[in-house]
Amino acid sequence: MLEKLSQLEQEAQAALAGVVDADQLERFRIDYLGSKGKLKAAMAWLKDASGQEKPALGQGLNILKNRLQDGYERKKGELGSAKPKAAGPMIDITEPGLPPRLGRTHVLTQVMNELIEVFARMGFDVAEGPELENERHNFVALNIPPEHPARDPLDNFYIDDDHLLRTQTSTVQIRVMESTPPPVRIVSLGRVYRPDTHDATHSSMFHQIEGLYVDRQVTMVDLKTTLIQFAHAMFGPEAEVRLRPSYFPFTEPSAELDIKMQVKDHYDWIEIGGCGMVDPAVFEQVGYDPEQWTGFAFGLGIERVAMRRFGISDIRWFYENDVRFLKQF
Ligand code: DAH
Repeated sequence: MLEKLSQLEQEAQAALAGVVDADQLERFRIDYLGSKGKLKAAMAWLKDASGQEKPALGQGLNILKNRLQDGYERKKGELGSAKPKAAGPMIDITEPGLPPRLGRTHVLTQVMNELIEVFARMGFDVAEGPELENERHNFVALNIPPEHPARDPLDNFYIDDDHLLRTQTSTVQIRVMESTPPPVRIVSLGRVYRPDTHDATHSSMFHQIEGLYVDRQVTMVDLKTTLIQFAHAMFGPEAEVRLRPSYFPFTEPSAELDIKMQVKDHYDWIEIGGCGMVDPAVFEQVGYDPEQWTGFAFGLGIERVAMRRFGISDIRWFYENDVRFLKQF
């Protein structure tokens, strides 16, 4: 009887090996594993087996049943995974396509374009200057003396003895006045660089907008009026402007610029830059007659404006190119 059992196994395994499609597999299942199949029939042998043979036969039948069952499942898996290949790629041409992901301008570019527009309405042109500057434009002509702490090599990205990545867009004031006779009315936007440790509010590269207005009899009233217009355009009619007395080498008098704006559910004074009346020493550096010409200047951090405007709490997000962040604006 054990012999018959092993014959049955050989026969069944051969039959299974020959199966190439689902129909044949189903026939195999019916023939061998079905309720009227050969395995069921073999169970009946137990009745006729001698007492001695019975345990071994019973065990053998069980093992055979498990093997055939496993073999059947394995084959089913093979046929299943092979199926799409045999049928060719499944393409449903009636399904709507994937919408292409549209690009957009970076949130900082959007804010810069808006700033340009706001100041253009007040008659300001856009001027540009290089990011790699010399000491004259970054310091000397801006009345920043050699011993001034801002010139410490540790606080600047020096390239060689005379060249560095600009730390402020005030450099463009000098470049414009060197090349253009007064009056001038410009804004300049771009990157500036400082060796800062990166955290939620510091980056070694960020953006500034610089403003310069030179004409006859320009006063602080003009400066404040311009800044109020800017604050209303960017932060809404509720925004207020406060000038806090301060010091910059290139302006006299100088002030810190605070704007009172909505921060979440309340209004708060936020410092966003510096400003003042152009120092006569700067006019002398560029060959403007300080007896005839007067002017104001200001410089603001663009990231600060954008962060307040959109409630962005970490400056690093601007530069990570994470689409999940960028697509929100
Ligand atoms: N350049 C200054 C800075 O980066 C900001 C600034 C202050 C610009 C006063 C100005 C100004 O034009 O008048 O901190």
